[in-house]
Amino acid sequence: MEKETIVRPSLLSADFLHLSKDVEEAISLGVSCLHFDVMDGSFVEDISFGEKIFAPLQKTYGDRIAFDVHLMVENPLKHVRRFLELGGKEISVHYEALTLGDLPQIQELKREFPQLRLGLAINPETKPEEIVSLLPLFDMVLVMSVVPGKGGQSFLEGSEKKIAALASYRKEHSFSYKIEVDGGINDKTGPLCLLSGADYLVAGSFYFHSLDKKQTLVSLTKEKEVE
Ligand code: DX5
Ligand code: ZN
Repeated sequence: MEKETIVRPSLLSADFLHLSKDVEEAISLGVSCLHFDVMDGSFVEDISFGEKIFAPLQKTYGDRIAFDVHLMVENPLKHVRRFLELGGKEISVHYEALTLGDLPQIQELKREFPQLRLGLAINPETKPEEIVSLLPLFDMVLVMSVVPGKGGQSFLEGSEKKIAALASYRKEHSFSYKIEVDGGINDKTGPLCLLSGADYLVAGSFYFHSLDKKQTLVSLTKEKEVE
């Protein structure tokens, strides 16, 4: 796989009738990773897609593009295992869906699947302070900058401060977790999040509804390039 790109288009806003066309277009634009939003109708209101759609995507395109699975589901660890068995490597679970009893299972999954990059997603109401004790277990923190469950919402102001707090905690404690931000990312909020310390930007509607996707990818990271 080539160098990792910063922008991760979210397939939630793709054209489901022509999913392969959208995946191929992203590959041709040099995107290294697509975001795959799994919703169960319980942790969040909507139901999106799951293992059945992931399996052919991973099988067909897995050697050319990575998939970053965002599990907005209850009992997420059960599904982490399923996605890993299908070839998934980067999977995020919600802090709000975990229980204390899940921690030994997380350690076991990491031992069993050393290739796993496990992310911890946090809802807008969850403060970075609440998750510090869990950070050594995770490879990524996914900061939700909207209430999870739907695409096309506006970025919640203040999310960039959570990113900055997580980035400075990372530096202070020499951690290496990545920071991803998801929800309402556009050419203003994307660069702001990057300046605050985010490593990856998830963009759903801003990317898929744009007429010139190549230009859209550039616009999302423009401050970073100037830095
Ligand atoms: C929302 C999802 C997002 C969504 C983002 O709950 O987790 O990944 O696709 O969509 P936009 O970029 O349109 O806010
Ligand atoms: Zn998402």
